[in-house]
Amino acid sequence: MKIIITKNYEELSKVAANEMAETIKSNPKAILGLATGGSPIGMYKELIRMNKGGEIDFSTITTVNLDEYVGLSGEHTQSYRYFMNDNLFNHINIDKKNTYVPNGLAENIEAECKNYDAKIAELGGTDVQLLGIGNNGHIAFNEPDQELVAGTHLTGLTEDTIKANARFFDSIDEVPKTALTMGLGGIMKSKKIIVIASGEGKAEAVKAMVNGKISTNMPASMLQMHRDVVVIVDEAAAKLL
Ligand code: PGA
Repeated sequence: MKIIITKNYEELSKVAANEMAETIKSNPKAILGLATGGSPIGMYKELIRMNKGGEIDFSTITTVNLDEYVGLSGEHTQSYRYFMNDNLFNHINIDKKNTYVPNGLAENIEAECKNYDAKIAELGGTDVQLLGIGNNGHIAFNEPDQELVAGTHLTGLTEDTIKANARFFDSIDEVPKTALTMGLGGIMKSKKIIVIASGEGKAEAVKAMVNGKISTNMPASMLQMHRDVVVIVDEAAAKLL
């Protein structure tokens, strides 16, 4: 793992955007694995700025997102489809039909998961996968557990995650209890992985991801087995390294 420690969130966002921009510049047809949450918002702002300034072009880029809440449509303001449109896609020159997010309203969840993995395989896999990390060490919605699933699947959210995500909803009761998520196999197949984390609340999870024993109870620790991971953290999140 390559570790980059930045002064603050602003610098983290710039460094992460530059990493992503490198992939875009070197391969105009790159497949980008993207993530939602608070962590990537600054990075997306920076990518929008670079796109508007003519530095990077998204017209032939394809994106694949990690996860989506079950039961929320793409128009729901807390759905991850809405988040991606609002924080990135609506502001760059990407063709929306080349942006993939699991469908949280799919009638046949099993088929949706299978098709999602088939689509990623058909695209040739992701060139780079962006990840945040949960306070509990989850990546995407792969929560700490006795066992982890390789492919895209339906999963329940832990109490920790429901609590952490309640900040985006009017009340905790509105947070969906299940989600569709890419599995550890899908994530590990990416050619390159970028993990971003900011703030002291992430310090324990970052330490376990980088230096801890590899365990399904700390899903991010699995990333130690990937050959090309860049961890970009601010000083607060790097406090225990
Ligand atoms: P955050 O979430 O970026 O909102 O902190 C990260 C995660 O839960 O994966």
